[in-house]
Amino acid sequence: MCAVTDKRREKLLPVPRWPTREEAAQARWFQPVQLGPVSAATRTWVPAMVPWRSNEEGETTAEVIAWYERFARGRPGVLVVEATGIRDVPSGPLLRAGDDRFVDGLARLVEAVKRASGGETKLFIQLIDFLAIKRRPQRSAYLSRFLTVTPALRALRPELDEAGLRAYLDSLDDDTLAGLLPKRELEALRFGLRERVTDTQLPHIAALPKVLPELFARAASRCARAGFDGVELHYAHAYTMASFLSALNTRLDGYGGERASRARLPLEVFAATRAAVPASFAVGCRFLADEIIEGGNRPDDAAFFAVEFARAGMDFLSLSRGGKFEDAKQPKVGASAYPYTGPSGHECMPTTKLAAPWGRNVEAVAHVKRALVSAGFSTPVVTCGGIATLAQAEAILSQGQADVVASARQSLADPDWLLKLRLGRGDEIRRCLFTNYCEGLDQSHQAVTCQLWDRVKGLADDATVMRASDRRRLLAPDWVD
Ligand SMILES: Cc1cc2nc3c(=O)[nH]c(=O)nc-3n(C[C@H](O)[C@H](O)[C@H](O)COP(=O)(O)O)c2cc1C
Ligand code: SF4
Repeated sequence: MCAVTDKRREKLLPVPRWPTREEAAQARWFQPVQLGPVSAATRTWVPAMVPWRSNEEGETTAEVIAWYERFARGRPGVLVVEATGIRDVPSGPLLRAGDDRFVDGLARLVEAVKRASGGETKLFIQLIDFLAIKRRPQRSAYLSRFLTVTPALRALRPELDEAGLRAYLDSLDDDTLAGLLPKRELEALRFGLRERVTDTQLPHIAALPKVLPELFARAASRCARAGFDGVELHYAHAYTMASFLSALNTRLDGYGGERASRARLPLEVFAATRAAVPASFAVGCRFLADEIIEGGNRPDDAAFFAVEFARAGMDFLSLSRGGKFEDAKQPKVGASAYPYTGPSGHECMPTTKLAAPWGRNVEAVAHVKRALVSAGFSTPVVTCGGIATLAQAEAILSQGQADVVASARQSLADPDWLLKLRLGRGDEIRRCLFTNYCEGLDQSHQAVTCQLWDRVKGLADDATVMRASDRRRLLAPDWVD
């Protein structure tokens, strides 16, 4: 069915025997869980994955609906819709919830998921805010146009006018130039200009604590109106809210520095969101069990935040890992930095290139879970990362390391896999190879598909299935009983 070598399959976790239907029915993973006001039928969870199927207007396209409808047929306990923008600003083909006009489209998505899962799957949506990031510039364009000429730079060659100084800097070799430019200018030249939450000299960054609670709350309220069961506030990876939580956040306005101050805006966003949605609607967040980067948050920080979030009344805490800009690879000229290319990115979406890619976040998540229990909180904790067998999920749940187990890429490889497990037909599962072809597509903002099914030919739906412009199938093939 696909041209993947057995060598790649040999690296996967061995599964000596898939469970029978009866065994699966007894499995902890397939038992219900209460997520605040929402009862999920199982402890399975498909986390947010941006598939690049919206359009420049941020609308819920037919492709977006078909994508989630396909996951829903596998009946996960919870399905989380991709990171969705809370602002109504052009954001490429990122789904948006920043205006009332998006509600109808999102409502159609909810209906499709409910129908396809027979009403079983609970549907959450992840809400995101992010700061500006520019593409890596051409060296000479940057030095001649964008570089801020500071008095220190001017002092290098006081006899030159500004144009002359810029030309002089351009004539220097890379190492000499690197020794002269201020740190942020050098970063902007090498990686593209990236805003940080600590850039409080910029009025719109200083104002983030004033504007974000209402922006998140209004977006969440639209999602509630569209019929979603809950929202996941995106406090993870490389984006605005994660940057407020980060140990690298040194803001001096009461929203940075000590852990309690770093948690302040995330808690205010939660409070505003909770107040804007019905009591029957779940509100939780996704944040990092470990930022992985130098000077970043570690599991102890995550444990502190988890207790504060639980105390505030969050309905679930989903924990991811890494995925930061700080250690991302240098992009090519004209491309943007991508936060999943450095060591922290590899921890976020581990591949079989790593010696131990399986369940890499579990220990850190278990640390967070223990802190919650010690503080007297039973808020459900979701773990994720390199989990693709029932045995893994059962070990995590039976040891109380988490309450819910999420699987992203395995669900992308085979959206029916959870149903196959429940029906005792595990040997029919199309197993994810954990080589990140899908993530490469995400990186280049192309429609995300899976190498195991996007070029398969000879299927009944060949003529009708949605396709990308390069003819890749946009949807996994039907599971034919
Ligand atoms: C194509 C793709 C898109 C993703 N988009 C998001 C996203 O929008 N929000 C998010 O929190 N995580 C996102 N992730 C990360 C996944 O939710 C998950 O944390 C990660 O893939 C590790 O889980 P896994 O080993 O089960 O795949 C994405 C992952 C992939 C592969
Ligand atoms: S493309 Fe992604 S989902 Fe498909 S096998 Fe590779 S890593 Fe797994």
